[in-house]
Amino acid sequence: MAARSHAVLALLLFLGATVLSAPPGSAQQAAGDNSKFFDDPPPPLPKELLADAKLIARGDEIWKEQCTHCHGSKAYPGKAPKLTPRRYTPQFVWDRVHNGFRGMPPWKEVYSEEDIIAIVAYVLSDDFWP
Ligand code: HEC
Repeated sequence: MAARSHAVLALLLFLGATVLSAPPGSAQQAAGDNSKFFDDPPPPLPKELLADAKLIARGDEIWKEQCTHCHGSKAYPGKAPKLTPRRYTPQFVWDRVHNGFRGMPPWKEVYSEEDIIAIVAYVLSDDFWP
């Protein structure tokens, strides 16, 4: 666990440095803007895949396990914004979760490709409760 948090911290520092050295404007990525990604680009995220009930269920588990530490009504107020999925594209959610952004940790070293797609599917599903 300690080793993992060090790795996450190192990644955050690295991403912070990347943001600081990026040209002006690039850190102001609007929610839902697919045109710029800091790190790895998203895989194809077709509607049919994101509608998969098993993926949504897996994403729900991960959300309760990890994300509610910072997001949602049970988290300490102000720790992370309440998610507004109606404003998001699948690519935006994937990018935030995989690559991280400022106070949002990157999860690419923690979860598999399929798990991250499962999180996207859940956040954008009707089951999601922010
Ligand atoms: C350590 C606390 C923390 C955890 C754990 C965390 N987040 Fe975040 N998240 C944040 C913060 C802080 C932001 C706001 C980042 C910014 O825009 O400055 C954020 C932003 C986001 C955004 C973009 C929101 C927007 O409207 O711009 C999404 C989507 C997101 N998180 C999803 C998740 C998911 C899914 C998980 C679980 C895998 C998760 N987060 C776990 C802190 C956290």
